[in-house]
Amino acid sequence: MKKINRPYIILSAAMTIDGKIATKEGDSELSDKVDWKDVHNLRTQVDAIMVGKNTILKDNPKLHIKYYNHNGYYRIVLDSNLTIPLESNVITFRPEIYPTIICTTENVPLNKQSNYEDRGVRIIKAGGGKRVDLIKLLPILKSTGINSILLEGGGNLNWSFIQNNLVDDIRLTIAPWIVGGKDATSLVEGIGFDEIKSAPRYDLFDVKIRTYYITLSYKKRK
Ligand SMILES: NC(=O)c1ccc[n+]([C@@H]2O[C@H](COP(=O)([O-])OP(=O)(O)OC[C@H]3O[C@@H](n4cnc5c(N)ncnc54)[C@H](OP(=O)(O)O)[C@@H]3O)[C@@H](O)[C@H]2O)c1
Repeated sequence: MKKINRPYIILSAAMTIDGKIATKEGDSELSDKVDWKDVHNLRTQVDAIMVGKNTILKDNPKLHIKYYNHNGYYRIVLDSNLTIPLESNVITFRPEIYPTIICTTENVPLNKQSNYEDRGVRIIKAGGGKRVDLIKLLPILKSTGINSILLEGGGNLNWSFIQNNLVDDIRLTIAPWIVGGKDATSLVEGIGFDEIKSAPRYDLFDVKIRTYYITLSYKKRK
């Protein structure tokens, strides 16, 4: 695989014992306060937080920081056809601290783009395919000064990064539930690899065990 000049990528998620990051109805309330504090602490250490479009549609997150003083970072959403509502929290909530970038494709018409730009959103177009082209996008983000990204899902976006071997670190909290369901979103969705030997391998470097929850930290094996 061709090496690209790109930001450092840390994948962060809370998942159930059976590897789901949401129920089949999209309920993803897996973290407790201690876990959220840890995630927010991690957010203070990166230049941007990135999520896929469905996470915006399902959760409408603010992607902000509670618990710590911080000067902000970019919020990045991947949305190939510019469909997230203009009223989404990621657009309306404190854009002066957390400026938002929506990454989309060349297929999006200029008039649609300007609806978002009028609200202060920056649009970056990467590729003319069905979905945002990560291999084109990441060097653009790097050239705008984004050196590290906390990838906060969901499962389909996680797969695109894993498939292209673009995840450097993983921070994974295992929450004490089993939810089942073939339509419940897994940590990593997509078509998956055929063989273990083709999949990226990670080294476990930290384990935090507390009542009910475990947090695992991994680094990609070089
Ligand atoms: N527990 C947790 O830590 C956690 C964290 C985050 C999310 N979640 C849950 O995960 C669920 C959403 O996950 P999801 O897998 O359905 O969606 P997702 O990964 O949030 O978003 C996927 C969408 O992003 C867009 N996209 C654009 N470019 C892409 C690319 N290169 N690769 C992949 N996607 C791209 C695609 O829509 P277009 O083709 O229309 O652009 C795609 O359908 C929600 O229920 C949310 O609550 C849980």
